[in-house]
Amino acid sequence: MERAFYKKLIDNNKAWVEAKLAADPEFFEKLSKGQEPPLLWIGCADSRVPANEIIGAQPGEVFVHRNIANMVVHSDMNMLSVLDYAVNVLKVRHVIVCGHYECGGVKAAMGNQSFGLIDNWVRHIKDVYRFHFDELDSIENEQQRFDRFVELNVVEQVYDLAKTSIVQAAWRSGQSLHLHGWVYGVGSGIIKDLNVNITNNSELEERYQLKF
Ligand code: CO
Repeated sequence: MERAFYKKLIDNNKAWVEAKLAADPEFFEKLSKGQEPPLLWIGCADSRVPANEIIGAQPGEVFVHRNIANMVVHSDMNMLSVLDYAVNVLKVRHVIVCGHYECGGVKAAMGNQSFGLIDNWVRHIKDVYRFHFDELDSIENEQQRFDRFVELNVVEQVYDLAKTSIVQAAWRSGQSLHLHGWVYGVGSGIIKDLNVNITNNSELEERYQLKF
C-alpha cells in the first residue's frame, strides 16, 4: 500500500515530463539555463494551497517560500535569505503574501490548546491578534472572526515585509518592488486581493522608516 503510493509519485513524474516535452521539446533545457521569475510568493505550508497551481504558473515563474501561516518573521534567517535572493539577485518586481481561509496556524492562534514546539511559532500569530484586538474581539460570529483574523494576519505580514531592511533598501535604490496581500479560499479556489499594495517606505509608521 505505502510502496504503491510511493511508486505512483515516480510514475506521475515520468508522465509529467513526457507531457511537458510533448508540448515543448526544449522545456527543461531552457529551464536549465537559469531563472528570472517576476514574483516572490510567501504562502502557507498547507497542502491545499499549492502556489504555482492556483495562479496557473509554470516552473520558472514563481520563487516560493512557505511556512505555517505565511509568516514574515524578521528574525527568520530562512525567510530573510529567500527574500534577499529574490529581491537582490533575481530582481523580482512583486512579492505576494498569500494567506488562506481555514488556516490551521491562525486557528491555533485563536485558542489556548498546546500543540508542542509549534506553540512558539503560533505566538507570532497571537501577537497579530493582540494588535487588532478591538476589531477582532468585537466580531461575535466565530467563523467571521476567524476569516477576518486570516485577512488581518496577511496585512500585518505585508507590513512586516515592508519593514525589512531588504525591502526598504531596494526602494531606496529605486528598484520597483510591489508588495501585495492576498487570501485564498480553500473552499472556493478564489483569491481575494486585500489591496494592501505598498510601494515605498513612506507608507510605514515613522519609527520603522529606515534612513540610508
Ligand atoms: Co495555513
